[in-house]
Amino acid sequence: MSEKKQQVSRRQFLNYTLTGVGGFMAAGMLVPMLGMAVDPILKKSSSGDLANINLAVDDITNEPQRVDWKVDQVDAWYESQVSKSAWVYKNDNGDIVALSPICKHLGCVVSWEGSEQYPDQFYCPCHAGRYTKDGVNVPNTPPLAPLDVYESKVENGMLYLGNAHPRGEA
Ligand code: FES
Repeated sequence: MSEKKQQVSRRQFLNYTLTGVGGFMAAGMLVPMLGMAVDPILKKSSSGDLANINLAVDDITNEPQRVDWKVDQVDAWYESQVSKSAWVYKNDNGDIVALSPICKHLGCVVSWEGSEQYPDQFYCPCHAGRYTKDGVNVPNTPPLAPLDVYESKVENGMLYLGNAHPRGEA
């Protein structure tokens, strides 16, 4: 009887050992695979970085000029290039202003001097929305909010822009 008890004990020992070794090996393979699968989600997106838009500060006047550039965007595993645009000028204090061209009514693209009737305003051709030079929506036109403002910085005489935010968040 004691011999049978010892055989069962050996079998149990073997089961525990094999299960333990097998589990250890499986974990050793799964942990790196899990890391690779989750890594893009945990990585900080580069979309929040400010991009050099190839515009020298000396070339910015008090006349709004449209600037277009592309940024690399990573959404988890998908990498793409996104086109961005801004209206850039210096205000009366010499501060650089970078406005989003996206109309706050329904998302059309606004233009500086887009209307002969209102040459000193941003004009949206979709529903005749208008904004003053500082991007504030003109009352009694369709847009109900000012144009978004880009995050910006100047480095080595060049203008860098990030994301556009509604007023008060920029
Ligand atoms: S989308 Fe600009 S006024 Fe309607």
